[in-house]
Amino acid sequence: MWTKTRSADSVPVSGLSIYDPVHLGIDEHGRRVDIELVYRNILFGGEPGSGKSSGLQNIIGHASMCTDCQLWLFDGKQVELGLWRSIADVFVGPDITEAIDRLEQLQKEMDRRYDELDQVRRRKITSVDPVDVIVAVIDEIALFSATLGSKDQQEQFVRLLRDLVARGRAAGVIVVAATQRPSADIVPTSLRDIFAYRCAFRCTTEASSDTILGRGWAQQGYSATAIAPENLGVGLLLAEGGIPRRMKYAYLTDAHIYGLVEHSQHLRTQHAA
Ligand SMILES: Nc1ncnc2c1ncn2[C@@H]1O[C@H](COP(=O)(O)OP(=O)(O)OP(=O)(O)O)[C@@H](O)[C@H]1O
Ligand SMILES: [Mg+2]
Repeated sequence: MWTKTRSADSVPVSGLSIYDPVHLGIDEHGRRVDIELVYRNILFGGEPGSGKSSGLQNIIGHASMCTDCQLWLFDGKQVELGLWRSIADVFVGPDITEAIDRLEQLQKEMDRRYDELDQVRRRKITSVDPVDVIVAVIDEIALFSATLGSKDQQEQFVRLLRDLVARGRAAGVIVVAATQRPSADIVPTSLRDIFAYRCAFRCTTEASSDTILGRGWAQQGYSATAIAPENLGVGLLLAEGGIPRRMKYAYLTDAHIYGLVEHSQHLRTQHAA
């Protein structure tokens, strides 16, 4: 039972928390694009090489600087998120059986947290609770939902993912996912619609762009087909209730990531001491 709250000693040494806005990049007017990720989920879609994984790295970079969250990385391609492996609490490569096991584990943890919240008559976890937010990053959904394993396993993966996106937020589970194939068989509307943030990187068809952003946006002039192929890392970001915002993601080089990983290791060691 959560009788205690985080003590002043456990405030992250870096001063950064997963409850703080996450910096993603700049918009076309040069303004910062920072999003509140806690209690929300985010979906990235777009053609191969459009900048989805690089966009994800910004979120992982933020999470790596926080000692109030755990990082669960699901990387079907193994090397996209592999640079963060040493600081990840969980790292799953191209293995559908392990991916399902881990999602089931996450689902159990979510249910356990809801039981505890229920017992103390609360609706959601907050920054003072001695419970880590869990940031689950999945790159790329299609590998687990349509390529690896049997049909049953793929369906099970999508069922678990949908449940985590639908119910995870108040329990402190944030799902961050990317897909190269923004089509209804990979991202069913029922799954797409429950992501609070959605970002369409360059797409080849208006239908693909709408699969990420939602039906009707292309017709209103918000189509990721308008992003030039050489404009890597540019996307249309849709936040709950708003209109899509064209933005350019910040880009972390491998050297930046090595530096962040080293700093994160240091923070985590200090936090554990
Ligand atoms: N924000 C950015 N600024 C500058 N260059 C970028 C940016 N994002 C991506 N790139 C460049 O584009 C390349 C492809 O990006 P990335 O791997 O993120 O694409 P992707 O959409 O994940 O592709 P895939 O679907 O094949 O996984 C990167 O290696 C990098 O060179
Ligand atoms: Mg990628």
